[in-house]
Amino acid sequence: MQVGVIGAGTMGAGIARVASSAGHQVILFDKDTSMLSKAKQALDKSLSGMVDKNKLSSEAARGIIQRISFAEKEDDFKNCGLIIEAVIEDLSIKQAVFGRLEQIVSQACLLASNTSSLSITSVASACKHPERFIGIHFFNPAHLMQLVEIIPSIATASSTVHQAVELIRSWEKQVVLVKDTPGFIVNRLARSFYGEAIRIYEEGLADFATIDYIMKEKGGFRMGPFELMDFIGNDVNYKVTHTVWEQFFYEPKYKPSLTQKRLVESGRLGRKSGRGYYDYADEKAMSVLEVHSNLADDIFNRIISMLINDAVESYYLKIASRDDIDLAMTKGVNYPKGLLKWADEMGCDTVLNHMENLYAQYCEDRYRPSVLLRSMAQNKTLFYQ
Ligand SMILES: NC(=O)c1ccc[n+]([C@@H]2O[C@H](COP(=O)([O-])OP(=O)(O)OC[C@H]3O[C@@H](n4cnc5c(N)ncnc54)[C@H](O)[C@@H]3O)[C@@H](O)[C@H]2O)c1
Repeated sequence: MQVGVIGAGTMGAGIARVASSAGHQVILFDKDTSMLSKAKQALDKSLSGMVDKNKLSSEAARGIIQRISFAEKEDDFKNCGLIIEAVIEDLSIKQAVFGRLEQIVSQACLLASNTSSLSITSVASACKHPERFIGIHFFNPAHLMQLVEIIPSIATASSTVHQAVELIRSWEKQVVLVKDTPGFIVNRLARSFYGEAIRIYEEGLADFATIDYIMKEKGGFRMGPFELMDFIGNDVNYKVTHTVWEQFFYEPKYKPSLTQKRLVESGRLGRKSGRGYYDYADEKAMSVLEVHSNLADDIFNRIISMLINDAVESYYLKIASRDDIDLAMTKGVNYPKGLLKWADEMGCDTVLNHMENLYAQYCEDRYRPSVLLRSMAQNKTLFYQ
């Protein structure tokens, strides 16, 4: 089957590489032809690096390049069986792309968007046949990240879901099926890791380095929340938080922070600008003096309980299955274990206790415990029997 990819930026180029590596003929299109040459150069460079390190044979590398054609017009998509759109994050631009594509491709062609923050239903609404439209959300870098979220809209046919899941699995990706809700599952559940850490800092309980240290030492996270926000880029991270919060009708647990907004306003974007929460010119910026064990427990329990509570709530609301929620966080953001498995290990009663204490202390809706967490704590049930 021929696969079309529209938009040859970071994600489009990566997705084209994945599809070609799986043996498909791929057509990669961008309205800006310089992006096509950049994508080709970057792909050549990356593949030859892998050949040099004996991670890929030169035949395999040649095959990946040869199977991708770099198209300069959308008409070239006419024989594709699937088209994945990865143009800029703008609803009207995406809708216009699909409006045109539907006039070019056959009715059997599946149409997919790689959007991170727009509703799949809203993009699909531009199509005459939204039943063949679906969200296929890769993570960056697409060729290295194992996880792909598959998001049917309310109009997607079950045959489309089935075909998309089978196909992406055949590309050696791990697929999770997620309801069309803001942030899907990974970007939704990850919000508390950042947001609660910033709240703790804003309350003066600990500095960035101490909070990062605690989450790595006690939780086994590869990076602490501030390191990770600096790595992702505070502009990107702030925008995702803002979008998720807004699209959830200003849900308090996803509320963005002024601390991060000010960093963005001052250009302290993180590693890419040399300074974010940390100053990367200062070797001692991440050093931690001494952490009192009670403080470490309080901070760790507060952040992990917020994460688990939201995972439990998402499971209760059937945003994704138990296994998919856990797979999403371990493969999409490298958490050391799934949040529902973590709930079992900590005990829902313990997590509920932390949430109830926070709720009583702050009188804020962001700390309300999930109704499922409460009933599981009362009935002493586990997610994994
Ligand atoms: N970057 C990430 O980490 C990431 C991760 C997952 C999903 N996404 C989503 O993937 C999509 C693309 O993101 P990106 O980071 O690759 O963006 P990018 O800015 O790197 O690339 C976007 C490309 O789309 C092209 N484009 C714009 N309008 C076009 C049109 N009408 N027709 C054809 N090409 C057009 C641009 O020339 C550009 O090359 C967005 O929806 C984004 O939300 C991004």
